[in-house]
Parts: sequence; C-alpha cells; structure tokens
Amino acid sequence: MNSQVTAVRGMKDLFGEELSQWKFVEEKIHAIFKTFGFSEIRTPALEKKEVFSQTVGEDTDIVEKQMYQILSESESMVLRPEGTASFMRAIIEHNLHRNVSPQRYYYYLPMFRHERPQKGRLRQFFQFGAELIQDASAESDAEIIVLLDTLFRAFNLTQYEIRINSVGCNDCRPQYSKILKDFIRPNLDKFCELCKKRFERAPIRLLDCKNESCQGFLKGAPKLIDHLCVNCVSHQSKLENRLKELHVKYILDPQIVRGLDYYSRTAFEFTSDLLGAQSALAGGGRYDELATRFGEKAFPAIGFGMGMERLVLALGEAKLLPTTKTNSAFYFAPLGEKAFNFLFELSFQLKKNGIGAEMSYEKEKNLKWHLKQADRLQNQYTVILGDNEMTQNIALLKDMKSGEQKNLDLKNIESELKRLYEA
Ligand code: HAM
Repeated sequence: MNSQVTAVRGMKDLFGEELSQWKFVEEKIHAIFKTFGFSEIRTPALEKKEVFSQTVGEDTDIVEKQMYQILSESESMVLRPEGTASFMRAIIEHNLHRNVSPQRYYYYLPMFRHERPQKGRLRQFFQFGAELIQDASAESDAEIIVLLDTLFRAFNLTQYEIRINSVGCNDCRPQYSKILKDFIRPNLDKFCELCKKRFERAPIRLLDCKNESCQGFLKGAPKLIDHLCVNCVSHQSKLENRLKELHVKYILDPQIVRGLDYYSRTAFEFTSDLLGAQSALAGGGRYDELATRFGEKAFPAIGFGMGMERLVLALGEAKLLPTTKTNSAFYFAPLGEKAFNFLFELSFQLKKNGIGAEMSYEKEKNLKWHLKQADRLQNQYTVILGDNEMTQNIALLKDMKSGEQKNLDLKNIESELKRLYEA
C-alpha cells in the first residue's frame, strides 16, 4: 500500500484498548437508555441537503460551512452533521408523531462536520442522542437533563457543570431580537464580518461569537432571560423547581444560545474543564417548532446530543476507564507437531462452546517464545503441551496471575478447562 494513503483528516481509526474502552462506555449508555424507556432509531448517514438547510438554519456554522456535500445529477445530498433534523425527518416520514402520547427515542450514530480538527473536535464523530416527543411539560425537560446527569454519574464522572438557559419562543424572541439589535447597532461596524452578516436575520447568534473583540461590544447586552413571555418564564421556573427537587445542580447561563436555530425555551449544555477548549460534553434543548420546517403542524419535542469522543476523553482524563484487556481465557502453547494438532482441535471445540482459547499457528517455537507470547497476551491461563507429555496424557496448566501450575489429564481436559472458565 502506498504510504501516502492515510485516513481522512479529522477521522479516526479505533482499535485495541481504546476500542475496548469505547465498548465499555457504549454498553453502559445503551443500558441507561433502556432503563429510561428510550428505544433506538437508526437513520441513514446520507440525507437530502434540505433536511438540514431548512431546519438547522442558514446562518449557522453547520449549514454555512461544515456540511460534506455529495452532488449527483438530480439532487444534492449531505453527510448527516447532526441527529435531530434526521430524526424529525424520519419521525414525520413514518407518521410516528401522529401518536400523541410521549415517545422516547435515542440514537448512536456517526456525524460529519467539516470543522478544523483539534482535541475533542473531529470531522467524523459519534453522538449518542435522545429525543422525547409529544410532551410539552417542564417535567420532560427535567427528564432529559436528569438522564444525561445519570449517564455521567454512572461512570463516576463528577467534574462537569450543567448550564441552562431559556431561548424564548415565537412570542417573545422577536421582541427581544429587536431590543438586542438596538443595543448592538451603534457598534455594528466594529463587529466581525460573520456577526455583521448574521445581524439582520439572526442577531441572537452574535451572543455566541467566539471573537473576543465582538464579545467586548456585547458586555452589558440585554439578556433574553429578562425578556421572556409569561409562558416561557413559567416553563423555566417549573423546570428549575423540578431540578432542585431532584437534587440536580445547575448554573443559569444566559450565554447558552446553542449553535443551531431550531431551539425554543429550554437550552442547555453540559461542560467539563477536563476537555480543554472544546468543553461541551453534551448539548440540547426544546425544539417545539422544528416540525413546521418540514411543513408539518408543530408538536413538542426536546432532546440532547452527546459526543462520544469527548466523553471518552473526559473519562480518560479522570482515570475512570478500565485498562484491563478483555481477551480469551486460555493461551495454548504446543511444543511439537502432535501437541499442536491436539490443541488446534481442542481450541475450536472450546470456541464452539463459547470459551475463548488463543494459539499461534507457529509450529516450531520453543517454550521461552510461548511464555513471552502468553505474557504479552495476558490470558488468564496458559496450557503447555509437549509431544512427550502427550504420551503420558498430561498437559501443564499455568495460572498467569498467581503463577501456580498443575497437571491436567488430557482425557478430560475439555471439561476441566470448561470448569475453570466457569469458576
Ligand atoms: P451539538 O451541540 O451541535 O448539538 O452537538 C452535541 C455534542 O456533540 C457536543 O456537545 C459535542 O459533545 C459533540 N460534538 C459536536 N461537534 C463535534 C465535533 N466536531 N467533534 C466531536 N464532538 C462533537 C446537536 O447536535 C443537537 N442535535 C443536539 C440535540 C438533540 N438537540 C436536541 N436534540
């Protein structure tokens, strides 16, 4: 293979110990979703471009510059940059939203964003996401936040903060946008080009600008939380009360406006200083109006997306990932042709019964070489068998942790290894 052929920038291969750690994390998360009554949904990686351009917002980073496009003669498709819009497309397409009782879904899928790669920021990354539809109450907001909190606690992760805000609704946001524009207008020419571009159509996005100079001109800007309508205020205070009842610590953060357009009312982020610059472990919120962008009647919905790479990174930093390899129980060390043939057959006999037994197909290696292999592989037991021992019907079993050794009778070696495996 040409050594110039490497993985695409910002995309990662997973194997070995890191992959084992991912599986450990994935397993726990699937189990938590099950406990909370969420069922899995999988959508294709490729979607029509409009699924995102009409929903996530023309003035968002994702739609403006981060989507991988695939152009065919008849239509323009993109690799899914986020899960919520694809989820909504699927829900509406299969009429699942017609059932008016609350429904809970989750997904675990790769997302693609053409961003500048750095620690915790990839171009293909995996997201666990949850979406709860057809319930407008503050209790479902609380449920989604508690679910995420439970998920991090399940790994004993404590070094994170929950930041919540309300981004208002169609009743109060237009009025607030006007007030914010009046505040910004006198200094607009000093803002960055992107802010200037977004000023007319999406002034609230300016609050999220990473440019320090823009942030300087935003000091003292009116806060959306102070201009919410009565219904949004009531929703927000009900949510806060529920979180307090459930002993969930949160910070009210008016800076949380989220980088996607579809949110209304509750918006939140879970951040951790274990992560460095890309501090968002997860983010989400309510998106009660999103269905209208698919030409449907609005229905209530709330959810979150959590980045797997970032969670694994945070768990690694906090030393909360398992380091032990989960490999098969036995390593077989044959010394001689007869011994090789015997163990070769036995290894498959065991595998058929769900018991792992590894052996190298090198036929002429000595004991020293095998013991080195056994040390490297760290199986629980090593079975050593030489042609001479075969004539005496015995094999040697070594417990790799304690170093203890004992003879095994070849006649009932299969049942003996099975017994050890199950002990
Ligand atoms: P988001 O904030 O764009 O929200 O992404 C959610 C999470 O995905 C982030 O907090 C982060 O952990 C991870 N993430 C985002 N971009 C990257 C990247 N380039 N590399 C690694 N990880 C990344 C959404 O996507 C919404 N769909 C969440 C949602 C669900 N809202 C309602 N329901």
